[in-house]
Amino acid sequence: MTAQSYLTELFSLEGRVALVTGGSSGIGRGITGALARAGARVVVVARREEELAAIVAELTVDGCQAAWVSGDLSTRDGVRAAADEASAVFGEPDILVNSAGINLRPPMGELTDEEWDTTLALNLEAPYLLGQRFGPGMAERGFGRIIHISSQQAHRAFVQSGAYGVSKGALESLARSQAEAWSPYGVTCNTLVPGFVMTPLNQRLSADPDRVAALAARTLVGRNGLAEDFAGAAVFLASRASAYVTGQSVFVDGGFSVH
Ligand SMILES: NC(=O)c1ccc[n+]([C@@H]2O[C@H](COP(=O)([O-])OP(=O)(O)OC[C@H]3O[C@@H](n4cnc5c(N)ncnc54)[C@H](OP(=O)(O)O)[C@@H]3O)[C@@H](O)[C@H]2O)c1
Repeated sequence: MTAQSYLTELFSLEGRVALVTGGSSGIGRGITGALARAGARVVVVARREEELAAIVAELTVDGCQAAWVSGDLSTRDGVRAAADEASAVFGEPDILVNSAGINLRPPMGELTDEEWDTTLALNLEAPYLLGQRFGPGMAERGFGRIIHISSQQAHRAFVQSGAYGVSKGALESLARSQAEAWSPYGVTCNTLVPGFVMTPLNQRLSADPDRVAALAARTLVGRNGLAEDFAGAAVFLASRASAYVTGQSVFVDGGFSVH
């Protein structure tokens, strides 16, 4: 056996279909590129069409198979419509990545019902509903991978964790509940936990060089995260290689969380 065929057996996503929410920007965009280049046919779901078309065009030029569906995942009807449309493209997904998320940062005392509802709807309920939609089919087919993206704020409160921290804490619990339900049938459910990654999500914080440098200094690696830092972990969690890894929170944070 050559090294190439050994690695293909472990990690190749050829023949798999993936659905990535929030795959048009930041961490989700990085993961979309990784899964597609590892061989999966990927459908990207988010709202803005221009950004969606851009990532799909980039991947198509690279010889990958990718498509996009525009949908608002902050309502139940929106999630259902997007799920139906996305699975009509390449078929039911074998891999589901929930990266779409928002972080509104009002101080806890000023948090409105609307901010609470929107945060929980997009960051927690959409991943739950997509799991309900696709998890049983994955279990029936005997293979599936569900990957959530949570946050340091699932583990500790800082910079106005508010509703966001609550949604991310619950998301890691959701991964464990899904793992309990479907791991016996070949469906693993895990969470990637980023540190600070410079993306449009934290544009305001990224514009403050002192804060950015202070956050980088808090890692062990000595720099903040990049979208491409998630490629290896995402391919691993999406591949056959991770068959015995389930219900876990995998920190991809340059050591931010360990000191
Ligand atoms: N960046 C960080 O430092 C960091 C740290 C910890 C955790 N995370 C988590 O990582 C995930 C990705 O974050 P990111 O930094 O990559 O964010 P980002 O660059 O802002 O990307 C967010 C993605 O979600 C989509 N989205 C937002 N609202 C949506 C809605 N209502 N319906 C459908 N799609 C929607 C966006 O596209 P549209 O706006 O076009 O819909 C975009 O594709 C999030 O869950 C975030 O909480 C990020």
